[in-house]
Amino acid sequence: MKAIIPAGGAGTRLRPITHTSAKQLVPVANKPILFYGLEAIAAAGIVDVGMIVGDTAEEIRAAVGDGERWGVRVTYLPQDAPRGLAHCVLIAGEFLGDDDFVMYLGDNLLGEGVSEFVRLFAEEKAAARILLAQVPDPQHFGVAELDGDGRVVRLVEKPKSPPSDLALVGVYLFDRTIHEAVRAIRPSWRDELEITDAIQWLIDQGHPVRSQVVTGYWKDTGQVDALLEGNRLVLESVEAAVEGKVDDESRLIGRVVVQPGAEVVRSTIRGPAIVGEGTRIVDSFIGPFTSIYYGCEIVRSAIEHTIVLEQSRIVDIPRIEDSLIGKQVEVCCTRSKPQAHRLVLGDHSRVDLV
Ligand code: G1P
Repeated sequence: MKAIIPAGGAGTRLRPITHTSAKQLVPVANKPILFYGLEAIAAAGIVDVGMIVGDTAEEIRAAVGDGERWGVRVTYLPQDAPRGLAHCVLIAGEFLGDDDFVMYLGDNLLGEGVSEFVRLFAEEKAAARILLAQVPDPQHFGVAELDGDGRVVRLVEKPKSPPSDLALVGVYLFDRTIHEAVRAIRPSWRDELEITDAIQWLIDQGHPVRSQVVTGYWKDTGQVDALLEGNRLVLESVEAAVEGKVDDESRLIGRVVVQPGAEVVRSTIRGPAIVGEGTRIVDSFIGPFTSIYYGCEIVRSAIEHTIVLEQSRIVDIPRIEDSLIGKQVEVCCTRSKPQAHRLVLGDHSRVDLV
């Protein structure tokens, strides 16, 4: 059994963060999303991992290296442009050979991991095993239609009128038959070779395709709201740990992680929340579901349900909620006249002012 991780996509829905970095490396609970997938694959006992990379190849390579940290062997497979998930399988053909494999999308978070799915796939042979999750907005995903016996009869990519509320989770198990399928299909309206179409081809040719609905959480973190939700879900299960400094005038309530070298001064942190290495929280309130990455400074501010990336400074801001703040960003409040919002924002930034 091998694994491939598509980690090429441009991440247009996470701009401006993804103008400068790969969406798969955005931290959730202070750990790049991609690492959760690698951990799940390693935990399933898979060693050979093909990482499909595009424009952000260098950044991904720098973060993941040869995979030794997870006990896996990573082979980088460059894709010239985001041509679809079935195209990822196509270019991974030689790497995969005749082996069964799991394809785990680099921006997906799957609470229960993959070990159980890998075990089931090995046990009852099929050409594919797909995972499904009930979602309120199926039109944004691949959607499955099941018959009365729970068998998959049809799969449609981003349908305007979804046949069900069962979205295709971005974790798939295949045997070698899929290589025939990805060669047989044609690009979709969005000019991509869709994995959904390849699986449909398997069904149409009479190959067994099994499905199961996931029981834990699943998030495709491609959008800001979903990313914040993913952060919330992961933080729900962190254990409190204080490795940095917390002074006597500060209060940590509930599950709070203070990573090594972090400092909390005259502040209140209500968990679940995580404060990254070398970050300073001074005279501030950090509310639930907040992840502050390394090297940040939060002074006289209140932040809740937010992700702050590395080395950013937030000073004198009475309330920030539901936000995603990039690397080395400064958010400050000026007392000088005239009182006005002064903004230096990157392309595709979004600001909601009150
Ligand atoms: C892809 C698949 C889609 C699936 C989704 C899960 O969508 O095409 O079928 O439901 O991943 O994350 P994309 O990220 O390409 O929009």
